[in-house]
Amino acid sequence: MNQKHIDHGKRTWLIASGCASVVGGVAVAVPFVSTFQPSERARAAGAPVEVDISTLKPGEKLTVEWRGKPVWIVKRTPEQLATLPKIDPLLADPKSERKPNELTPAYARNEHRSIKPEILVAVGICPHLGCSPSDRFTPGAQPSLPDDWSGGFLCPCHGSTFDFAGRVYKNKPAPDNLEVPPHTYLSDTRLLIGADKAG
Ligand code: FES
Repeated sequence: MNQKHIDHGKRTWLIASGCASVVGGVAVAVPFVSTFQPSERARAAGAPVEVDISTLKPGEKLTVEWRGKPVWIVKRTPEQLATLPKIDPLLADPKSERKPNELTPAYARNEHRSIKPEILVAVGICPHLGCSPSDRFTPGAQPSLPDDWSGGFLCPCHGSTFDFAGRVYKNKPAPDNLEVPPHTYLSDTRLLIGADKAG
């Protein structure tokens, strides 16, 4: 597991990403890509961040920084998307009804919590105490996860688990789903994080 500490002003968070899982001799590497744009000054001021997602393949995740926070962009596979409705009964807030104005913009209040079904955009900070959850994309039994794990994210600090839409499982320390930040598409392959509309 590649880990990267980022001290950013008053806030410190831990990125635990680029997780390489070895299952049955097959290594599944999830790439970690940091994109630091626009300029340092603009970013510090909270400017929206434009991201090129043209090379993102199904099953991969990009992490970009916006307002000092890691924002994940995950291109979900059809299989990963298909898990979402099945696990609703296991989730604390499957319809994203809690704190909708803080956690889930209106355009993401749907089954996949996203504008385009396959692309998840979420802030990678656990709502419990602020750790950054790790990728656990491979389904099935593995340490710290149930035998029927569908794939998603595991917070290494106190064991909260999230599905492929960033929805938190029931009876976990994290009280809420991961935040979906304001975002919009400038084109099919360019995302703007931090603004609801282009311009
Ligand atoms: S910080 Fe994530 S479970 Fe506690």
